[in-house]
Amino acid sequence: MPEILLGVSGGIAAYKAVDVMRILQRRGHGVTVVMTRSAQRFVGPATFSALSGRPVGVDLFGAEERPGYGHLELARSHDLALVAPASANTVARMAAGLGDGLLGATLLAFEGPVVIAPAMNTRMYLHPATAANLALLRARGVQEIDPASGLLADGDIGVGRLADPVDIVDAVEARLAGAGTLAGRRVLVSAGGTREPIDPVRFVGNRSSGRMGWAIAEAARRRGAEVTVLASNVDLPRRAGIRYVDAPTAADLHAAALAEFPACDVLVMAAAVADFRPGAPLEGKIDKSAEGRLALDLEPTADILSDLASRRERQVVVGFAAEHGPAGLERARAKRVRKGLHLIVHNDVSVEGIGFESGENAVTIIGEAGEETVERATKDVCAERILDAVAPILAATA
Ligand SMILES: Cc1cc2nc3c(=O)[nH]c(=O)nc-3n(C[C@H](O)[C@H](O)[C@H](O)COP(=O)(O)O)c2cc1C
Repeated sequence: MPEILLGVSGGIAAYKAVDVMRILQRRGHGVTVVMTRSAQRFVGPATFSALSGRPVGVDLFGAEERPGYGHLELARSHDLALVAPASANTVARMAAGLGDGLLGATLLAFEGPVVIAPAMNTRMYLHPATAANLALLRARGVQEIDPASGLLADGDIGVGRLADPVDIVDAVEARLAGAGTLAGRRVLVSAGGTREPIDPVRFVGNRSSGRMGWAIAEAARRRGAEVTVLASNVDLPRRAGIRYVDAPTAADLHAAALAEFPACDVLVMAAAVADFRPGAPLEGKIDKSAEGRLALDLEPTADILSDLASRRERQVVVGFAAEHGPAGLERARAKRVRKGLHLIVHNDVSVEGIGFESGENAVTIIGEAGEETVERATKDVCAERILDAVAPILAATA
């Protein structure tokens, strides 16, 4: 089973790292813990060593708790490094490449996948320095498990709570399962929601944030794919190593998708594309006083997914079906067959707290060979499961 290096840094949530370690162990992973000096002010190394049955790394220059092996050996002997909680300070250290402690030095020498779960006060998390450090780490391929929002230990309410330990372990396992499986493949992902102009300043749009498409693109990149994202109005950080093509309207998206499709091996259409658009967008801004009641005349847009699926050669084609209510699953199944898709990912947009604007989703991945349901999980985990489902189809078709 994979060996996990668990880095624990100094924050109130350090005690939750005990849970993370226990869940990893229960699922069969070997776990070695390395603690920063500050982390030991919150939880003692004895807790981790007693529960893990292993020495705990605390000192770069050797200590009783960690006899006989150094940072290089720690880096070599583990398959994945997880830092949970990752303090603002440790995030900054990682971004700067500082190796002035055992955890920093080990991470510098570590060549495998790195996952971090930040936890801190909202103002620390949103500070431009922390945001820039996290963006830099993500650009280097470090996977961030977003902190949750809620009541913080210091009494503030906001973003910054350590993600749920089960979600953290799910993300670690998904990352381990997928490493390198899309090497040499080209993946095209559409993300966001199109906006159809009514006049030069107004549009008909939807609430898609682009997070699901972003998560798929990043997961595909982590698996070694060459990734192009067709981005429809997405206000999320862009990662180094991924190509982005802006496609604000359904027509732009259609044109960009047609241009990119022939070169790709996998197409995932996660964008929410307008089904209708104003028939004749006005050249000047509509004047309120002149209009009274206003009727919008909408015309249907092209069905991009069906068009691309009909042109496919070797490509694996994956669509999304954001459906409302329990009957939606049946509609999604029918949509997959009607549009000639390999897979369709159904999500029920009537369930509160998941879907369009949230970091979480709950999906059913429907294929010819069967269906897999992913219960409420982060979009990163959903993305990994979707790519897991793509893998056997890709192997069989290309
Ligand atoms: C009571 C207390 C709670 C703290 N909680 C956090 C926290 O949740 N997240 C964080 O980033 N820093 C927190 N800090 C600040 C860090 O402990 C401090 O920046 C430390 O230098 C981090 O060191 P490390 O990254 O090497 O572990 C806290 C400090 C104190 C005194």
